[in-house]
Amino acid sequence: MKVLVTGGAGYIGSEAVAQLCDAGHEVVVLDDLSQGHRAAVDPRATFVEGDLAERAPLRRTFAAHRPEAVMHFASQTLVGESMEKPFLHLGDNVRNGLNLLECAAEQGTRRFILSSTANLFGLPERVPIDETARIDPGSPYGESKHILERMLRWMDDRFGMRYAALRYFNAAGAASPDRGEDHDPETHLVPIVLQVALGQREQVTIHGDDYDTPDGTCVRDYIHIVDLADAHVRALHALDQGSRTYNLGNGRGYSVREVIEVAREVTGHPIPAVVGPRRPGDPAVLVAGSERIRAELGWAPRYGDLRSIVESAWAWHRAHPHGYADR
Ligand SMILES: NC(=O)c1ccc[n+]([C@@H]2O[C@H](COP(=O)([O-])OP(=O)(O)OC[C@H]3O[C@@H](n4cnc5c(N)ncnc54)[C@H](O)[C@@H]3O)[C@@H](O)[C@H]2O)c1
Repeated sequence: MKVLVTGGAGYIGSEAVAQLCDAGHEVVVLDDLSQGHRAAVDPRATFVEGDLAERAPLRRTFAAHRPEAVMHFASQTLVGESMEKPFLHLGDNVRNGLNLLECAAEQGTRRFILSSTANLFGLPERVPIDETARIDPGSPYGESKHILERMLRWMDDRFGMRYAALRYFNAAGAASPDRGEDHDPETHLVPIVLQVALGQREQVTIHGDDYDTPDGTCVRDYIHIVDLADAHVRALHALDQGSRTYNLGNGRGYSVREVIEVAREVTGHPIPAVVGPRRPGDPAVLVAGSERIRAELGWAPRYGDLRSIVESAWAWHRAHPHGYADR
C-alpha cells in the first residue's frame, strides 16, 4: 500500500515509517520539521517537507502520490501548553486535521489512522481505562483529538473512509540506539530522568507525592514505541474489515518513583529527585485496558516491562546525548 505518514519525522511516527517500510509498504512522509528530525526518517521513505496548515501544497502532495492510506501523527502535542494556549492546540490540531481529511476525501484515500490520546479520559472514573470509559477530555489538546475522532465517524459515514483511532497512553523507549526521543522542550518523564543521568539536568521534579497511589506519586502506563508502531501496522491491515477504536497501553502502571528507581539501576547514576507541587489536572492513575486490540488484532506488547523500555531509551540517549543535534 502507498501510505502518507504525517509527522513521520517525529518520535513515534518515525518508528511507524520504519515498520511500514519493513512490511513492504511504500511510504511518503509529510513533516514540517517543527519538532521532527530529517535524520529520523527511514531512507526507504520519500520525504516531503510541508506544513499541514497550507492546503495548496498539501493537495499537490496528495495528487502527486495518491496515497491509499494516511497515518496522522503530526500535531501540537504538549498537554500543559494547551492549557495556556488553547487556541493553538484546538486551532492547529482541528484545522490541520480538517485540511488533511478534505484532501484525503477528495483524492479517494479510504484508510486513515489517527494518533489519539489517553487525555480523552481526563480524570477517569475507573482503571484500567477501556474503550467504554466516559470521554471527558482533560485539556484543549485532548479535546482537539476528541473532535478529530468525531470527524472521522463522518468521514466513514459520508465517504466510506475506514479509520482507526488509537489512543496512546505514555509512549516511551527507543527503537534503536540510532533513533529515539528528541523533543524541545522535553516534557516526558523517561527522557527527563535520563537527562539527569547524562548530567544535563541537576535533578528531576516529582509533581506531587500525596496522590492516592501506593507510593503517593502518579501511576502511568508506559508503552514502547515499537509496540505502538506495531499496533498501527496491524490496524492498517485490518481497516478493510471496518473502522475501529483502541486504547493502547501495557495494562500495567508504574509510579514516578518506580521509573526513577529503574533509571537509577539502568544508568548507575543516583538521579536526585525533589518533590514539587501537583500539576493541575493530573489524574492519580492512568492505565489502559487494551483487551479489545489484543482480541481483535492479536496485538500484544513485546516490551511490556519498564526495565526494557528504560534500557532502550538509555541506549539511545547515551549514544546521542544531544539527540539529533540538528537545531
Ligand atoms: N508521545 C506520547 O506519549 C503521546 C501520547 C499520546 C498521543 N500522542 C500523539 O502521537 C503523535 C506523535 O507524537 P510524538 O511524541 O511522536 O510527537 P513529535 O512531536 O515527536 O512528532 C510530531 C511530528 O509532527 C510534525 N508536525 C507538527 N506539526 C506539523 C504540521 N503542522 N505540519 C507538518 N508536520 C507537523 C513535527 O515536526 C513532528 O515531527 C501526536 O499526534 C501526539 O499527539 C503522543
